[in-house]
Amino acid sequence: MILAQAHANLALVKYWGKTAEGGNRAANASLSVTLDGLTSLAAVRFRSRGESDRAVWHPPGPTEGLGRFVAHAREVLRIRRAVDVVVQSNFPVGSGLASSASAYAALTYALAEAADEAPGNVDLTALARSGSGSACRSLLGGFVEWQVGAEETVRQVAAADHWPLAVVIAVTREEPKHISSREGMVRTASTSPFYRAWLDANPADLSLVRDAVQRRDLAALGPVVERNALRMHATALGSTPPLLYWEPATVAVMREVWRLREEGTAAFFSIDAGPQVKVVCEPGAADGVAAALTEVPGVHRVLRSRPGQGPRMLREPPSWARLPAPWQDTPTPAGGGAT
Ligand code: PMV
Repeated sequence: MILAQAHANLALVKYWGKTAEGGNRAANASLSVTLDGLTSLAAVRFRSRGESDRAVWHPPGPTEGLGRFVAHAREVLRIRRAVDVVVQSNFPVGSGLASSASAYAALTYALAEAADEAPGNVDLTALARSGSGSACRSLLGGFVEWQVGAEETVRQVAAADHWPLAVVIAVTREEPKHISSREGMVRTASTSPFYRAWLDANPADLSLVRDAVQRRDLAALGPVVERNALRMHATALGSTPPLLYWEPATVAVMREVWRLREEGTAAFFSIDAGPQVKVVCEPGAADGVAAALTEVPGVHRVLRSRPGQGPRMLREPPSWARLPAPWQDTPTPAGGGAT
Protein backbone atom coordinates (compact mmCIF):
# COMPACT_ATOMS: atom_id res chain seq x y z
CA MET A 1 0.00 0.00 0.00
CA ILE A 2 1.31 3.43 -0.94
CA LEU A 3 0.32 6.28 1.35
CA ALA A 4 0.63 10.03 0.85
CA GLN A 5 -0.83 13.00 2.66
CA ALA A 6 -1.35 16.63 1.68
CA HIS A 7 -2.92 19.67 3.30
CA ALA A 8 -5.78 21.88 2.15
CA ASN A 9 -5.06 25.49 1.30
CA LEU A 10 -6.77 28.82 1.76
CA ALA A 11 -6.69 31.17 -1.22
CA LEU A 12 -5.79 34.69 -0.06
CA VAL A 13 -6.29 35.73 -3.70
CA LYS A 14 -8.89 33.45 -5.26
CA TYR A 15 -8.95 31.43 -8.45
CA TRP A 16 -12.42 31.76 -9.94
CA GLY A 17 -12.77 30.88 -13.61
CA LYS A 18 -11.03 28.64 -16.13
CA THR A 19 -9.72 29.17 -19.62
CA ALA A 20 -11.36 27.27 -22.49
CA GLU A 21 -8.38 24.92 -22.90
CA GLY A 22 -9.44 22.31 -20.36
CA GLY A 23 -7.30 20.66 -17.66
CA ASN A 24 -8.44 23.31 -15.16
CA ARG A 25 -6.22 26.07 -16.49
CA ALA A 26 -7.04 29.18 -14.48
CA ALA A 27 -8.32 32.41 -15.98
CA ASN A 28 -6.65 34.37 -13.16
CA ALA A 29 -3.61 33.99 -10.90
CA SER A 30 -4.06 33.12 -7.21
CA LEU A 31 -2.06 32.94 -4.00
CA SER A 32 -2.76 30.63 -1.07
CA VAL A 33 -1.48 29.50 2.27
CA THR A 34 -1.18 25.75 2.82
CA LEU A 35 -3.19 24.79 5.92
CA ASP A 36 -1.48 22.66 8.53
CA GLY A 37 -3.75 20.06 10.16
CA LEU A 38 -6.44 20.04 7.46
CA THR A 39 -5.20 16.88 5.85
CA SER A 40 -6.18 14.32 3.23
CA LEU A 41 -4.72 10.84 2.98
CA ALA A 42 -4.50 8.93 -0.31
CA ALA A 43 -3.94 5.17 -0.19
CA VAL A 44 -3.11 3.27 -3.39
CA ARG A 45 -2.57 -0.43 -4.02
CA PHE A 46 -2.53 -2.55 -7.17
CA ARG A 47 -5.46 -4.69 -8.25
CA SER A 48 -5.22 -8.19 -9.69
CA ARG A 49 -4.95 -8.88 -13.42
CA GLY A 50 -8.34 -8.48 -15.14
CA GLU A 51 -9.73 -6.12 -12.52
CA SER A 52 -10.41 -2.47 -13.27
CA ASP A 53 -9.66 0.68 -11.29
CA ARG A 54 -11.60 1.41 -8.15
CA ALA A 55 -11.43 4.82 -6.50
CA VAL A 56 -13.55 5.91 -3.54
CA TRP A 57 -13.77 8.47 -0.80
CA HIS A 58 -14.14 6.87 2.59
CA PRO A 59 -16.62 7.77 3.99
CA PRO A 60 -18.35 8.28 0.60
CA GLY A 61 -17.69 11.61 -1.15
CA PRO A 62 -17.63 13.02 -4.71
CA THR A 63 -16.45 9.78 -6.34
CA GLU A 64 -17.15 10.50 -10.02
CA GLY A 65 -14.34 13.03 -10.44
CA LEU A 66 -12.02 10.72 -8.54
CA GLY A 67 -12.48 7.87 -11.04
CA ARG A 68 -11.85 10.19 -13.99
CA PHE A 69 -8.73 11.53 -12.33
CA VAL A 70 -7.30 8.07 -11.60
CA ALA A 71 -7.85 6.99 -15.22
CA HIS A 72 -6.11 10.15 -16.48
CA ALA A 73 -3.25 9.86 -13.98
CA ARG A 74 -2.59 6.23 -14.92
CA GLU A 75 -2.30 7.27 -18.55
CA VAL A 76 -0.02 10.22 -17.85
CA LEU A 77 2.15 8.32 -15.38
CA ARG A 78 2.08 5.11 -17.47
CA ILE A 79 0.83 2.93 -14.62
CA ARG A 80 0.12 -0.38 -16.33
CA ARG A 81 -1.72 -2.20 -13.56
CA ALA A 82 -5.20 -1.23 -12.34
CA VAL A 83 -5.27 0.47 -8.97
CA ASP A 84 -7.44 0.53 -5.90
CA VAL A 85 -7.62 4.00 -4.33
CA VAL A 86 -9.07 5.31 -1.10
CA VAL A 87 -9.10 8.99 -0.16
CA GLN A 88 -9.96 10.26 3.29
CA SER A 89 -9.87 13.69 4.95
CA ASN A 90 -9.83 14.68 8.62
CA PHE A 91 -12.28 17.58 8.01
CA PRO A 92 -15.68 18.02 6.23
CA VAL A 93 -15.55 17.10 2.52
CA GLY A 94 -17.05 19.10 -0.37
CA SER A 95 -18.24 21.96 1.81
CA GLY A 96 -15.81 24.74 0.92
CA LEU A 97 -12.82 23.70 3.02
CA ALA A 98 -10.65 22.71 0.02
CA SER A 99 -10.88 18.96 0.61
CA SER A 100 -10.47 18.43 -3.14
CA ALA A 101 -7.20 20.41 -3.08
CA SER A 102 -5.66 18.23 -0.38
CA ALA A 103 -7.14 15.01 -1.80
CA TYR A 104 -5.88 15.49 -5.36
CA ALA A 105 -2.47 16.72 -4.17
CA ALA A 106 -2.12 13.62 -1.95
CA LEU A 107 -3.34 11.37 -4.76
CA THR A 108 -0.93 12.91 -7.25
CA TYR A 109 1.93 12.10 -4.87
CA ALA A 110 0.74 8.56 -4.17
CA LEU A 111 0.14 7.72 -7.85
CA ALA A 112 3.49 9.20 -8.88
CA GLU A 113 5.05 6.81 -6.36
CA ALA A 114 3.07 3.91 -7.88
CA ALA A 115 4.41 4.62 -11.38
CA ASP A 116 6.67 1.92 -12.81
CA GLU A 117 9.19 4.46 -13.99
CA ALA A 118 10.18 7.65 -12.21
CA PRO A 119 7.78 10.30 -13.56
CA GLY A 120 10.68 12.62 -14.40
CA ASN A 121 9.04 14.29 -17.38
CA VAL A 122 5.53 14.40 -16.02
CA ASP A 123 4.23 17.81 -14.99
CA LEU A 124 2.81 16.94 -11.56
CA THR A 125 1.42 20.47 -11.23
CA ALA A 126 -0.72 19.96 -14.34
CA LEU A 127 -1.73 16.51 -13.12
CA ALA A 128 -2.86 17.71 -9.67
CA ARG A 129 -4.59 20.68 -11.30
CA SER A 130 -6.57 18.39 -13.59
CA GLY A 131 -8.20 16.85 -10.49
CA SER A 132 -9.03 20.15 -8.88
CA GLY A 133 -7.50 23.46 -9.89
CA SER A 134 -6.55 24.52 -6.39
CA ALA A 135 -4.82 21.15 -5.76
CA CYS A 136 -1.74 22.41 -7.61
CA ARG A 137 -1.18 24.96 -4.82
CA SER A 138 -1.31 22.19 -2.19
CA LEU A 139 1.76 20.60 -3.85
CA LEU A 140 3.87 23.15 -1.98
CA GLY A 141 3.99 24.31 1.62
CA GLY A 142 3.82 27.81 3.00
CA PHE A 143 2.59 30.66 0.77
CA VAL A 144 2.08 29.55 -2.81
CA GLU A 145 1.40 31.47 -6.00
CA TRP A 146 -0.29 29.84 -8.99
CA GLN A 147 0.91 31.77 -12.02
CA VAL A 148 -1.14 31.65 -15.20
CA GLY A 149 -0.44 32.24 -18.85
CA ALA A 150 1.62 30.28 -21.35
CA GLU A 151 3.69 28.67 -18.54
CA GLU A 152 1.20 27.72 -15.86
CA THR A 153 3.22 27.04 -12.71
CA VAL A 154 3.16 27.12 -8.93
CA ARG A 155 5.94 28.65 -6.87
CA GLN A 156 6.54 29.15 -3.20
CA VAL A 157 6.43 32.84 -2.29
CA ALA A 158 7.50 32.12 1.31
CA ALA A 159 8.04 29.01 3.42
CA ALA A 160 5.61 27.98 6.17
CA ASP A 161 7.87 29.26 8.94
CA HIS A 162 8.29 32.66 7.28
CA TRP A 163 5.12 33.94 8.95
CA PRO A 164 3.35 31.94 11.70
CA LEU A 165 -0.09 33.38 10.93
CA ALA A 166 -3.09 31.81 12.62
CA VAL A 167 -6.10 30.67 10.59
CA VAL A 168 -9.31 30.17 12.59
CA ILE A 169 -12.11 28.45 10.68
CA ALA A 170 -15.77 28.76 11.59
CA VAL A 171 -17.66 25.72 10.26
CA THR A 172 -21.25 26.79 9.62
CA ARG A 173 -22.34 23.73 7.67
CA GLU A 174 -20.95 20.17 7.64
CA GLU A 175 -22.84 18.90 4.57
CA PRO A 176 -21.55 19.20 0.99
CA LYS A 177 -22.35 22.44 -0.84
CA HIS A 178 -25.20 22.59 -3.37
CA ILE A 179 -23.14 23.80 -6.35
CA SER A 180 -19.58 22.63 -6.97
CA SER A 181 -16.90 25.23 -7.64
CA ARG A 182 -16.44 23.67 -11.08
CA GLU A 183 -20.07 24.38 -11.99
CA GLY A 184 -20.05 27.72 -10.15
CA MET A 185 -17.09 28.99 -12.15
CA VAL A 186 -18.63 28.04 -15.49
CA ARG A 187 -21.91 29.69 -14.57
CA THR A 188 -20.21 32.87 -13.34
CA ALA A 189 -17.93 33.22 -16.36
CA SER A 190 -20.76 32.65 -18.82
CA THR A 191 -23.53 34.71 -17.18
CA SER A 192 -22.23 37.25 -14.67
CA PRO A 193 -21.84 40.80 -16.03
CA PHE A 194 -19.31 41.40 -13.22
CA TYR A 195 -16.95 38.62 -14.28
CA ARG A 196 -14.76 40.82 -16.51
CA ALA A 197 -14.29 43.27 -13.63
CA TRP A 198 -13.28 40.35 -11.37
CA LEU A 199 -10.51 39.36 -13.79
CA ASP A 200 -9.37 42.96 -14.27
CA ALA A 201 -8.97 43.48 -10.50
CA ASN A 202 -6.82 40.36 -10.06
CA PRO A 203 -3.29 41.70 -10.81
CA ALA A 204 -3.55 44.50 -8.22
CA ASP A 205 -4.79 42.18 -5.43
CA LEU A 206 -2.15 39.61 -6.29
CA SER A 207 0.75 42.02 -6.07
CA LEU A 208 -0.54 43.63 -2.84
CA VAL A 209 -0.97 40.21 -1.18
CA ARG A 210 2.40 38.94 -2.40
CA ASP A 211 4.15 42.04 -1.01
CA ALA A 212 2.25 41.88 2.28
CA VAL A 213 3.22 38.20 2.73
CA GLN A 214 6.85 38.96 1.98
CA ARG A 215 6.82 41.84 4.52
CA ARG A 216 4.66 39.91 7.07
CA ASP A 217 2.33 42.89 7.13
CA LEU A 218 -1.11 41.80 8.37
CA ALA A 219 -2.52 45.35 8.25
CA ALA A 220 -1.73 45.43 4.51
CA LEU A 221 -2.72 41.81 3.83
CA GLY A 222 -6.07 41.62 5.63
CA PRO A 223 -8.18 44.21 3.81
CA VAL A 224 -7.10 42.88 0.40
CA VAL A 225 -7.84 39.26 1.40
CA GLU A 226 -11.28 40.29 2.60
CA ARG A 227 -12.17 42.35 -0.46
CA ASN A 228 -10.87 39.67 -2.81
CA ALA A 229 -13.17 37.06 -1.25
CA LEU A 230 -16.14 39.43 -1.28
CA ARG A 231 -15.52 40.32 -4.92
CA MET A 232 -15.41 36.65 -5.87
CA HIS A 233 -18.76 36.12 -4.18
CA ALA A 234 -20.13 39.34 -5.71
CA THR A 235 -19.33 38.17 -9.22
CA ALA A 236 -20.89 34.78 -8.43
CA LEU A 237 -24.01 36.46 -7.03
CA GLY A 238 -24.36 38.27 -10.35
CA SER A 239 -24.79 34.96 -12.22
CA THR A 240 -28.04 33.64 -13.68
CA PRO A 241 -29.36 31.79 -11.74
CA PRO A 242 -27.53 33.47 -8.85
CA LEU A 243 -24.92 31.63 -6.84
CA LEU A 244 -25.11 32.13 -3.10
CA TYR A 245 -22.75 29.93 -1.10
CA TRP A 246 -23.42 31.53 2.30
CA GLU A 247 -25.55 30.46 5.25
CA PRO A 248 -27.00 33.01 7.70
CA ALA A 249 -24.17 32.09 10.08
CA THR A 250 -21.62 32.96 7.38
CA VAL A 251 -22.83 36.57 7.46
CA ALA A 252 -23.01 36.55 11.26
CA VAL A 253 -19.35 35.47 11.43
CA MET A 254 -18.31 38.18 8.97
CA ARG A 255 -20.03 40.76 11.16
CA GLU A 256 -18.36 39.34 14.25
CA VAL A 257 -14.95 39.69 12.59
CA TRP A 258 -15.73 43.34 11.79
CA ARG A 259 -16.84 43.85 15.40
CA LEU A 260 -13.60 42.31 16.67
CA ARG A 261 -11.68 44.69 14.45
CA GLU A 262 -13.56 47.70 15.78
CA GLU A 263 -12.48 46.54 19.24
CA GLY A 264 -8.87 46.47 18.11
CA THR A 265 -8.23 42.83 17.10
CA ALA A 266 -6.51 42.59 13.72
CA ALA A 267 -8.55 39.74 12.21
CA PHE A 268 -9.69 39.39 8.59
CA PHE A 269 -11.95 36.85 6.92
CA SER A 270 -11.99 34.93 3.68
CA ILE A 271 -14.67 32.61 2.26
CA ASP A 272 -14.22 30.02 -0.49
CA ALA A 273 -17.00 28.38 -2.52
CA GLY A 274 -18.98 27.37 0.52
CA PRO A 275 -20.38 28.75 3.76
CA GLN A 276 -17.31 28.37 6.00
CA VAL A 277 -15.46 31.49 7.17
CA LYS A 278 -11.68 31.42 7.51
CA VAL A 279 -10.21 34.13 9.69
CA VAL A 280 -6.58 35.19 9.49
CA CYS A 281 -4.93 36.80 12.53
CA GLU A 282 -1.68 36.87 14.51
CA PRO A 283 -1.13 33.74 16.68
CA GLY A 284 -1.50 35.82 19.86
CA ALA A 285 -5.04 36.81 18.86
CA ALA A 286 -6.19 33.33 17.82
CA ASP A 287 -7.62 32.20 21.19
CA GLY A 288 -9.77 35.30 21.47
CA VAL A 289 -10.94 35.05 17.85
CA ALA A 290 -11.77 31.34 18.23
CA ALA A 291 -13.71 32.01 21.46
CA ALA A 292 -15.69 34.81 19.79
CA LEU A 293 -16.53 32.74 16.70
CA THR A 294 -17.64 29.75 18.82
CA GLU A 295 -20.30 32.00 20.35
CA VAL A 296 -21.82 33.05 17.00
CA PRO A 297 -25.22 31.33 16.56
CA GLY A 298 -25.07 28.75 13.75
CA VAL A 299 -21.35 28.02 14.12
CA HIS A 300 -21.01 24.23 14.52
CA ARG A 301 -17.38 24.18 15.47
CA VAL A 302 -14.17 26.09 15.10
CA LEU A 303 -10.97 24.63 13.59
CA ARG A 304 -7.49 26.05 14.07
CA SER A 305 -4.71 26.03 11.51
CA ARG A 306 -1.49 27.80 10.48
CA PRO A 307 0.86 27.65 7.49
CA GLY A 308 1.77 24.02 6.77
CA GLN A 309 4.12 21.92 4.68
CA GLY A 310 3.66 20.33 1.25
CA PRO A 311 2.66 16.68 0.68
CA ARG A 312 4.69 13.73 1.92
CA MET A 313 4.77 9.97 1.70
CA LEU A 314 3.84 8.03 4.84
CA ARG A 315 4.78 4.58 6.17
CA GLU A 316 1.66 4.25 8.33
CA PRO A 317 -1.78 5.85 8.08
CA PRO A 318 -2.02 8.90 10.38
CA SER A 319 -3.69 8.29 13.75
CA TRP A 320 -6.93 9.99 12.66
CA ALA A 321 -7.34 7.80 9.54
CA ARG A 322 -9.89 4.96 9.40
CA LEU A 323 -9.31 2.98 6.21
CA PRO A 324 -11.96 0.46 5.11
CA ALA A 325 -11.52 -2.98 6.72
CA PRO A 326 -9.92 -4.80 3.73
CA TRP A 327 -7.15 -2.18 3.65
CA GLN A 328 -6.13 -2.42 7.24
CA ASP A 329 -3.79 -5.38 6.79
CA THR A 330 -2.26 -4.20 3.52
CA PRO A 331 1.49 -3.73 4.05
CA THR A 332 3.37 -0.69 2.82
CA PRO A 333 6.30 -1.62 0.56
CA ALA A 334 9.63 -2.07 2.38
CA GLY A 335 11.27 1.34 2.45
CA GLY A 336 7.89 2.62 1.28
CA GLY A 337 9.40 5.66 -0.39
CA ALA A 338 8.48 7.35 2.87
CA THR A 339 10.24 10.59 3.64
O1 PMV B 1 -10.03 23.97 -7.15
P1 PMV B 1 -11.49 24.06 -7.10
O2 PMV B 1 -12.16 23.61 -8.35
O3 PMV B 1 -12.05 23.38 -5.86
O4 PMV B 1 -11.88 25.64 -6.94
C1 PMV B 1 -11.42 26.41 -5.87
C2 PMV B 1 -12.15 27.69 -5.83
C3 PMV B 1 -11.96 28.53 -4.57
O5 PMV B 1 -11.69 27.73 -3.47
C4 PMV B 1 -13.23 29.31 -4.32
C5 PMV B 1 -10.85 29.56 -4.75
C6 PMV B 1 -9.44 29.06 -4.67
O6 PMV B 1 -8.58 29.71 -5.25
O7 PMV B 1 -9.17 28.05 -3.99
